Order: sequence, then structure tokens, then C-alpha cells
Amino acid sequence: MCGIFGCILKNGDAAPIIHAALKRLEYRGYDSVGEVTIHKDKLFIKKDQGKIDDVHTRHNLDDLPGRVGVGHTRWATHGAPYQTNAHPHIDCAGQVAVVHNGVIENFAELRRELEELGHVFKSKTDSEVIPHLIEEKLKGGLTLLEAMREAVNRLEGSYAIAVVSVDEPDKIFCARKESPLVVGVGEDAVYCASDITAFLPLTNRAVIIENGELVVLGDDGYGIRKIADFSSVSREPQIIDWTPKMAEKQGYPHFMLKEIHEQPSCLRDTLKLQERYLELMTTFLDRAGEVFLVACGTSYHACLAASYMFSKLAFLATHPIIASEFVEQHGRAVNIDSTILAVSQSGETADTLDAVEHARLRAATVLGLTNVIGSTLTRISRVYVSQQSGPEVGVAATKTFTSQLSVLAQLALRLAKKRGKISHLEIEQLEEKLEHIPEVAEMIVQSQREKIRQLAKKYRDARCFFFLGRGISWATALEGRLKLLEIAYAPSIAYPAGESKHGPISLIEEGFPVIFVCPRDETHKTIVGNIMEMKARGASIIAIVEEGDEEIKSLADDYVEIVKGVPEVLSPILYVVPLQLFAYYMAIERGCDPDMPRNLAKSVTVK
Ligand code: AGP
Repeated sequence: MCGIFGCILKNGDAAPIIHAALKRLEYRGYDSVGEVTIHKDKLFIKKDQGKIDDVHTRHNLDDLPGRVGVGHTRWATHGAPYQTNAHPHIDCAGQVAVVHNGVIENFAELRRELEELGHVFKSKTDSEVIPHLIEEKLKGGLTLLEAMREAVNRLEGSYAIAVVSVDEPDKIFCARKESPLVVGVGEDAVYCASDITAFLPLTNRAVIIENGELVVLGDDGYGIRKIADFSSVSREPQIIDWTPKMAEKQGYPHFMLKEIHEQPSCLRDTLKLQERYLELMTTFLDRAGEVFLVACGTSYHACLAASYMFSKLAFLATHPIIASEFVEQHGRAVNIDSTILAVSQSGETADTLDAVEHARLRAATVLGLTNVIGSTLTRISRVYVSQQSGPEVGVAATKTFTSQLSVLAQLALRLAKKRGKISHLEIEQLEEKLEHIPEVAEMIVQSQREKIRQLAKKYRDARCFFFLGRGISWATALEGRLKLLEIAYAPSIAYPAGESKHGPISLIEEGFPVIFVCPRDETHKTIVGNIMEMKARGASIIAIVEEGDEEIKSLADDYVEIVKGVPEVLSPILYVVPLQLFAYYMAIERGCDPDMPRNLAKSVTVK
């Protein structure tokens, strides 16, 4: 899950454009970076380990000649983040340079074969087989495009590739299988990239490249061919309604904090989604034999919360499943009566797409909820809903989570209406509450931010944290835990509160921070008991409570209040916000970068 970018300019040097674009892709991987340009039939390469700004300081990434070039920002899968493993990788003759996002599963076998043919490898990566394979094919007298086709036909796994060569110095050659690839069409330039945000400030005219396609970029634009039969494909650019400003920090110190503050407007946008897709999706859910809610990470937490919404409002039992376990857990049971609702903000998460592909092959109905138009999930879903949260740059998902929950709640309410399982009055009241959620979220962010910053300061040295919730708040607790874990590297455990006494409570000692998510719902009485159990063993209780909940406030060492009257099924949308802020400020307190947590990347495109 790296970021690749390439450009061909009519005028000027490509290097500064590549550098700036890689910065916009940095959330996809940031352990090493590299660029290559072509000038006077020579390749000019700069690459090193480290974040882009550090490598730029050491090597000046703007200072390579030539109007054609490609670049790469890396998230290591094969070969440690050393300079030698950074992209681009070149062939033996130093004529062909390649940047790659994805995993070549049969690289070891290909490498052995190429080494037997005399090729010398410089890195430990899987990607380096690509330039050597192309070099081998060129020896047979093929054109570069033909050689590339032959080469990619030998690759097993996933790839988005961009290739430059001194033999065709004014072109870039790309190929895609599973890993995302888009082309940007500008006035005086053409671009290729792992995602749209890379060239958004330069053009909003994008061409989505499909699996199994080759693309040639040149001064006259772009040409697409199918890898399978080399046939030409014509596809017009589509206009992307994201503005470059949407992908910038807008004065906030970090994208994560900006995106937490964007939640009210994103939630408003989720209430204006296209009626017919929501209705169509509701119809499919209503007819479904069994429903699997499939996703990873934060999106899985949205699925878990949705399973409570569908059950409580529409009496529909659904199975929330972590995507990487779907095939093992339910692979054999999935059939034509099964419906998969796959949730993925990026729409490119390999584990989720893999689960969907498995289900599709067994004739199941696939529905998708995503934030990225043109993503793979949108193209393999029977019906999809685009949640319209705008680009999310911070690796930690925040605004996309609350927007997912809002869309899923709307689906559950529509299903409740269709099935008439709860009264019209109750449905109307819930719809009205949903309408007000954006302004309540606004209030929480504005009124509680400083208090939560102080809480993070108070608990900054804690060695471990517990997150507990009952019912739908278990999903909120899981999400709070994931945020703290992934950006502040704070060891954290989340459990359904009822389960905590079946083992985890053994961890509790004096001052151990336990964060309770406890809206005033049907679980309130029992969760008070759980708080008492923890308190009796010396835990420090931090409670996210309903305003005026004196019972829990009197038990808690610290608390954050959420306005009165938030319905249980909507509570995760609001009760998660203080936990997002707590994680953000804890990361700041601990000197971590909230936007680019170590070892992570925004879109996990490898299995
Ligand atoms: C969440 O903060 C993480 N970035 C990660 O767990 C993420 O939710 C997961 O990788 C799923 O991503 P998706 O929604 O794009 O499929």
C-alpha cells in the first residue's frame, strides 16, 4: 500500500510536481521515497529511506531534470525500509525504471529464473523483478508496451505499475491488477497516480483504470488497452467534485484534527444522499436470506454497530464479520440467498475485496458502502452508496466512521419503515434525532475539546487502557480503543463490559484507566454495576456519559458529557467523538504524528 505517481509535462521540470504529489500520497506509506526523471535519454534517480520531508532535506527531490518522470512513496511489504529497497527499481542496463504498488506473490520464483539468466538484483523487494522481466522481454525485440504486457502476464498478485524507459523517453507505461490506478488529464500535462488526491490541485478530470488494463501516457494524452487481448479501450475522463482545498489542512495542525472538526458538515452531507440508491439497497436487504456486514478496522466497527441498528429497528439479524476471516468463517455457507454489505471508506481494502470476490463467485448479492467514487468496491457492487465525506487524509479514520454510521442508521430506519416492525412515531422521532446529529456533533467538538485535551495530559503516562461498553456501545468502545492504539501507540483493550469479569478484570490495579462508554439506554443499570466492579479494584474511571447522569458522574474520576436524549441506536455517532479527540491529544502528548502513525497506511491494498 504504497503511493505511485507519474507525469508528462508539455513544459517545465517534472520533479517538483512529482515531489508535491508524493506528499499528497504520503498517507499511503511513508517509510521511503524515490523519483526518476528522463532527460537527454538518461535516467535521473533520487531515492532514500525516511519520510518525504527528511529525504528532500537530504537530497532535494525537486532537483532532477526532465519533463517526464515517476515517483513512489513506500509502505514496506518485502524488504526493510532501506535505501536499496526504495523505488524506483531499474533493470541491469539502467534503461528501464519501475515504481510499483502491490505484492508480487511469485517474485521468488521469477527472481531465481532471472538470476539464472544473468540478471543481478540490488534489493530484497518483490517489485524489482518487474524491470528485469521487461528487460528480458525487450531482448526478444518486442516494443516496450509489448514487453510490459508479456512481463505483467508473468506476475501473480496485485500491482499498479508505472514504467519509464530511455528508449521511449516521452512516455509513461502503466498497468493495473487489483491495486488502484487513476489517470489525470490536465491542460498541458497528463498524470497517473494511486489515487485522485495526488493530482487534484492540477486537474479534476480523472480516468479510472480497470483491472487488467495497460495505459500509455504521452504528449497526446492517454491510450488504454486490455492486457488479455491487447484490444483498445476508450474511456472519457470523469469530473471529480472534490476541491484541492478539501485535501489540505486548512490551518489545522493535523489532518486528523481537521477531519474530526469536519464531521458535522460530513454528517449533514450524509443526510442528502441519493434517495434511490438508499431505497434500492434497503430493498435488497429486505429480500436477503442472510446478511453479512463485511469490513476491516474502523469500518468493521461501523458494521458491528449496524448489526444492533438492523436488529433493534428492523428485526433483521445480520452477521458483522472481520473481512480477513470471512472466507474461513463463512466461505462455504455463502450462496445465492446471501447478501454481503461491504463497508470500506477507501473501497480498496484487499481483505474486504477478497471477501466480496469470494461471495460474488458464489452468486451472493454484493452491496457496497464507500467514500471513494470509482474505487474497486463501487465497480464490483450490485448497488453501492457513496457516503460523500470528501477525501480523508489522516490515516486514522474519523469523519468516515461517523458518516458510515449515519448511512447505516438511515438504511436501518428505511428497513424498519418497510417492515413496519416499530411504530411510525418511533421512526419519525429517530429521523428527527438523526437530522439534529450534525449540530450536536458540532457542540461536542467545540465544548469538550479543551476538557479532553486536559484528560489526555492527565493520563499520558498510563501504561495501558481499558475501553468498555454494553450493547451498541461495545462498537464505540472498540473504535475508541483502535484510535488510541493506532496513533498514540498506547496498549489498549476493549471488551463488552459484561465480558470483562470473565478474565480481563485481572489486569485492574490502582489507577488503571478504564474508559466506559455509557449512554442512558437499556444497558445503563448493568453498566453501573460494571463500573462499581472496576472501581472496587482501584481503577480510574473515565466515563462518556449523558448530560446530567449524576449516578455515573459520581462514580467516575473523570467524565465527558454528551447532550441528553441521544437514542441508543444513534449513540455511537456522537459518543465516539470524545474518544477520537482523546486519542488525538494523547498522540500529541506522547510526541506521535497523528496523521502518519508508524507501520500503518491509509489504504491496505495487500492481503
Ligand atoms: C482506521 O483508523 C484504520 N485506518 C484502518 O483500521 C481502516 O479502518 C481499515 O484499514 C479499513 O479501511 P477501509 O475503510 O478503507 O476499508
